[in-house]
Parts: sequence; structure tokens; C-alpha cells
Amino acid sequence: QQEIGARHDLVGKKILVTAGPTREAIDPVRFISNHSTGKMGYAVARAAMLRGAQVTLVSGPVEIAPPPFVNLISVISAEQMAEEVIRLAPKMDAIVKAAAVADYRPIKVENEKIKKQEGGATIELERTQDILRYLGEHKREGQFLCGFAMETRDLLENAKSKLESKHADLIVANSLRTAGAGFGTDTNVVTLIDHRGQRELPLMTKAQVADAILDYMKECGVWIL
Ligand code: CTP
Ligand code: CA
Repeated sequence: QQEIGARHDLVGKKILVTAGPTREAIDPVRFISNHSTGKMGYAVARAAMLRGAQVTLVSGPVEIAPPPFVNLISVISAEQMAEEVIRLAPKMDAIVKAAAVADYRPIKVENEKIKKQEGGATIELERTQDILRYLGEHKREGQFLCGFAMETRDLLENAKSKLESKHADLIVANSLRTAGAGFGTDTNVVTLIDHRGQRELPLMTKAQVADAILDYMKECGVWIL
């Protein structure tokens, strides 16, 4: 249904979408990651493709199939995602950062499987690069930058500070505490936050949220450049 009625309002636009989790290796058999399934980012990639955009999808490891007609670049770690995104960013009209990038990685990746010992264990972690912040600091004129904020409390306050600190044009904020939102669901409840204010959207499918984000981008007028 959606395919048949597809608008072609993003023809000629280059859109980069990131999706899914990243995995930060501890040793050859273990990693640190999160519950992201990639559904929201894949929905944005699909919606943008259906609307005629030229879509590049940089994806962490997920179980779902990529939408057709998108340029899929698969990565594992936050560092690999940063490298691909930073390389591709300069030629993009818009970047939607739906990926749940790991904030920390083990300082040392063991070459051999770590054997268990008596007592507890500690893994020392270091910060990964904040890709969205980098993109915000290196944004080219007219480029549209959309981030996400997944929170368990103080949703609007936290999301607003991400908008400012990362120099994004839009933050799509969603609370893990809201029914119908969160990891693995086909629906989401989000609030769109920009420098003028906020707009709370009702419960929608992730496909509808994706279109709402793309509609917002158009409204912002960045496309006219
Ligand atoms: N993000 C990123 N690179 C990172 C971490 C996050 O690009 N290393 C991006 C995410 O893709 C998302 C946005 O930043 O678009 C917000 O991610 P989130 O995890 O909600 O916020 P953080 O800034 O990492 O802060 P915290 O996890 O402490 O809430
Ligand atoms: Ca984070």
C-alpha cells in the first residue's frame, strides 16, 4: 500500500542513515553491546528510498534484511561505524543517526579467550568517539543532522541537551518507559525536538515515524539550498 502510493519528494537527495547496535570486542568470543534491533533506522532508510532518495545505510549487526535499493555498509564496532560515517558525511544532504553506538569499549581486546578464575573480574573501558557530535562540529552548510535520544528518565531535558551539545538540527527522543516504544517493537512513540520547540507524536509504526522525520526535514527548508 505504502509502496504504491509512494511520493517521490526526495529524488536527488543523498541520505545517510545509521542503524543497529555496535559490538565492542572483549576477546575472540565476547563483546559488549545493547538491545538495538535496527528497526527504526531501517525504517528510515526504507522510507527515504521509497521517496526517491539515494540512501546509504551504515548498519551494525542486526537480524533484519536491508531495504532494497539502498547502499548497505555493514560494520561491527563503534570505531568502524565512525570511520565509514565520517568518510561518507561530506557528500550527504542529510544524516539520520539512529544507531545505538556503544559509548565504551574495552581498552584491551584479548587475543585469546579469557579463562575464568576464582573471584570477580573487571574490564577496563574507554570512551568511543561520539560520531554525532563530530558530525555536528563538521556540518557543512545546508546539511541536515538528525540524532536520536533513547532515555529511561528526564526524556525532554536529556534530549534537549543532546540537541545543543551535538549541534544537531533535530533530535528524535524516545523513552524506553513508554508502552509501544523501544527495542524490537514495530511501533514507536517519539517527540521531535528542535531549536524552536518540541512536537510529541502519537503512537505510530516505525514506518510512520520514519516518514514524519523525513517530512520534518523537508519542512525545515534545508532542501531548498
Ligand atoms: N551517538 C553517536 N556516537 C556515540 C554515541 C551516540 O553518534 N558514540 C549518537 C546516537 O547515534 C544518537 C545520539 O548520539 O543519535 C544519542 O545517543 P544516546 O546514546 O541517546 O546519547 P549519548 O550522547 O551517548 O548519551 P547517553 O548514552 O549518556 O545518554
Ligand atoms: Ca549513548
